[in-house]
Amino acid sequence: MTVNHIKVSQLLRDDLKIVISGGTGFIGKALIQHLVKENNQIVVLTRTPGKYDNPNPGLVEPVFWDGKTIGSWSHKIAGADAVINLAGEPIGIKRWNDSAKQLILNSRIDSAKAIVKAISTNGNSPRVFLSASAASYYGNISGDDVDESRKRGNGFLAETCERWESQARLAESTGARVALLRFGIVLDKNGGALAKMMLPFKIFAGGPPGSGKQWVSWIHREDAVRAIATIIANDNIRGPVNITSPEPVTMREFCSVLAKMLGRPSWAAVPDFVLKTMLGEMSEILLTGQRAISRKLREHGFKFKYPDLKQALGVIFNGINEIA
Ligand SMILES: NC(=O)c1ccc[n+]([C@@H]2O[C@H](COP(=O)([O-])OP(=O)(O)OC[C@H]3O[C@@H](n4cnc5c(N)ncnc54)[C@H](OP(=O)(O)O)[C@@H]3O)[C@@H](O)[C@H]2O)c1
Repeated sequence: MTVNHIKVSQLLRDDLKIVISGGTGFIGKALIQHLVKENNQIVVLTRTPGKYDNPNPGLVEPVFWDGKTIGSWSHKIAGADAVINLAGEPIGIKRWNDSAKQLILNSRIDSAKAIVKAISTNGNSPRVFLSASAASYYGNISGDDVDESRKRGNGFLAETCERWESQARLAESTGARVALLRFGIVLDKNGGALAKMMLPFKIFAGGPPGSGKQWVSWIHREDAVRAIATIIANDNIRGPVNITSPEPVTMREFCSVLAKMLGRPSWAAVPDFVLKTMLGEMSEILLTGQRAISRKLREHGFKFKYPDLKQALGVIFNGINEIA
C-alpha cells in the first residue's frame, strides 16, 4: 500500500505515544513540534531533563537517561507506539583524535544498545523503532545516484553508521519494525551544519572546501520531520531510508547558492591539503559526499515540500519560496 496523495497528518493517528531519545537536539526539537500538533504524547529521553525547555508540558515529558544503561526510563518504552533514537555526540565540534572518535561511536552504539535492551526486556515492543544514521554510510562517491540498496562506503563515518545500524537492527528480533534514517545534511536556521557553514560567508571568507565537486545530499528540516512522520505512519517502510532531497548538488553549487542568499561572494575553493592540515581526519565531513536519493520515500509517494536548494534556502533565510 502506498501513501500517494494522502496527507501525513491524516495518516499519523492522534494520541500515539512516542519516545524520543536525543529529542532535545536540532532534529528532535522540530520533530516534537510537528508531533505535538497532531496531539501525540512524547517522552523525551535526555541526560539533562532539568534543563529541558518544554514546548508543551501537557503533551511532552522529559525523562532522565544516561544514554547507555537501563534505568527507570525503560518503563516508558513499554507500550510506546514508536521509539526514535536521535542521540549521539556531535561529529563536527572536536578534532577527531582517538578519544573523540570513540565518543562519537560509543554514544551511538550504546544508546541504540540500551534501547534495544529496554525493548527486549519489556516484552511489549513498539510498533516501530526508528534509529538515526547518515548518508555518510555510503562514503565518498563521485558519480551516480545512490539509493538505499548501495553498499557501505569507506571512512570513519561510514563504519560508524554501519555499526550503529547493526545495533539498531537487533530490535527486529522483538517483532518491532525497524527503520534506519540515513539523514543527509539537515538544513534550517539556528543550528545544524548550516549555522556553521554560514559563518565564513558572513565575514566575506566563504568558499567551497576542497575541489567543490563533492556531492552534498541535503534536506530541509521540515521535510526531514515530515519524512519521519510518514515512516512512523506507514507500516511498509522499513530498513534503511535515505532522508535526503531528490536534488543533491555539488559543494561548489551549494556554496554559490548560500553565498547569494547571504549577499556575499563565494571565493575560490579552500584546497584539500589546507583542510586536512587544519582539521585532520575530521576533514572527511567537508571533503566527501554522495548523491543520495531516497528511492524508498519516492516509492511510498512522499512529496517533498522543498525539493530544490534555492527554494529551501530562500525559505530558510528570507521566508520567501523562490519557486512558488
Ligand atoms: N543534523 C544533521 O544534519 C544530521 C545529518 C546526519 C545524521 N544526523 C544524526 O541524527 C541524529 C540527530 O541529529 P541532530 O542534528 O538533532 O543532533 P544534535 O542536535 O547534536 O542532538 C543530538 C542529541 O544527542 C544527545 N547527545 C549528545 N551527545 C551525547 C552523548 N555523548 N551521549 C548520549 N547522548 C548524547 C543530546 O541530548 P541530551 O543532551 O538531551 O541528552 C543531543 O540533543 C544524530 O545522531 C546525528 O548524528 C544528523
